[in-house]
Amino acid sequence: MKKITTIAASVALIASMSYAKEVKIGVVLPITGPLAAFGQTSNDGLKIAYAQNHTLKNGDTVKLIVLDDRGDKVEAATAVKRLINKNHVTAILGEVASSNSMAMAPVAEKAKTPMLTHASTNPRVTKGKKFVTRACFIDPFQGAIQANYAYDHGYKTAVIVTDAKQDYSVGVSKAFKKAYEKRGGKIVGRVIINSGDKDFNAQVSTIKAKNPSIVDFTGYYPEAALMVRQARAVGVKAPFIGGDGVGFPELIKIGGKAAEGFMYSDHFDEAAATSPVAKAYVKAFHAKYHKATDSMGALAADGYGMILAAMNKCKDPTDKICVNTNLRATKGYKGVTGVININKQGDAVKSGVVRVVKNGKFSYLTTVNP
Ligand code: PHE
Repeated sequence: MKKITTIAASVALIASMSYAKEVKIGVVLPITGPLAAFGQTSNDGLKIAYAQNHTLKNGDTVKLIVLDDRGDKVEAATAVKRLINKNHVTAILGEVASSNSMAMAPVAEKAKTPMLTHASTNPRVTKGKKFVTRACFIDPFQGAIQANYAYDHGYKTAVIVTDAKQDYSVGVSKAFKKAYEKRGGKIVGRVIINSGDKDFNAQVSTIKAKNPSIVDFTGYYPEAALMVRQARAVGVKAPFIGGDGVGFPELIKIGGKAAEGFMYSDHFDEAAATSPVAKAYVKAFHAKYHKATDSMGALAADGYGMILAAMNKCKDPTDKICVNTNLRATKGYKGVTGVININKQGDAVKSGVVRVVKNGKFSYLTTVNP
């Protein structure tokens, strides 16, 4: 008996010595460009998760190949092609902005390569796709969080601000309207902006004239920061509420005092993090970066962890079909951002939080369960 065990152990050792290989995960992020905070914060979280674990159960080592798409759709799609055809990755993590993930998804789908976006929330990212999964909730959920939070706190009339260049913003606007009207709220106006705009004089004048009790800003942080500033300058007093795309330090840096009271739906807040996984992440993050955690990094850590968990369920972790099947079958994954269950569509069903800018910092208001 003893002997057999010894033989078995030495066989296993030889096997792992001679066959341990490198399993590659490609990562596509906007590390530079107008939305660089999305890429950089994702990368911060990814580094923590990678340091915590980069060895598969069978002894294989995980290698990350991170490409910067500069926040550009065409470059995002090109990056996926390169990762699949040149680098022969088993899976792809990314992107952040829904429009960019939507440019990548058909490429991954065609090459039957599992793609996991940690942060893209537009429902169309996974729609009709078998190889695209996400680690985050979708916009109908976060639109409803904003709508219900606003209405239930006495803000019964709203103007919606939509960034026409971003599928994310168009989706959140639609979701907010639906949920807000269902609750009894009234949309008293809509204004359109475009990513890259700097002058919102016309739009803030319209908002002032419509006099809503709240402004639902559905775009990203660069425009949110400038717009809220310009709105306050012309005398708009109504608070702003938005989605996950606004909660970045630039909002406070550029928005200054005008950003105070800006509320938004988000994926994670360390103040509400109680699970051992979340606590370990928060501790490691603070030790490495000496700053507060953000939802983006936490999502990236979870996306990476989900891919590893799926790989560990496959005899051959480079078997893309097996990895994809297991990613899509994710149930009860204990992530930093909470427990993640993937539904039939490939979307994560999980809780969200509401945060607010208070005294120049992002602070926690409440948790909303699906
Ligand atoms: N949800 C945004 C999108 O789909 C991306 C995002 C996620 C931005 C989390 C910030 C934080 O485009």
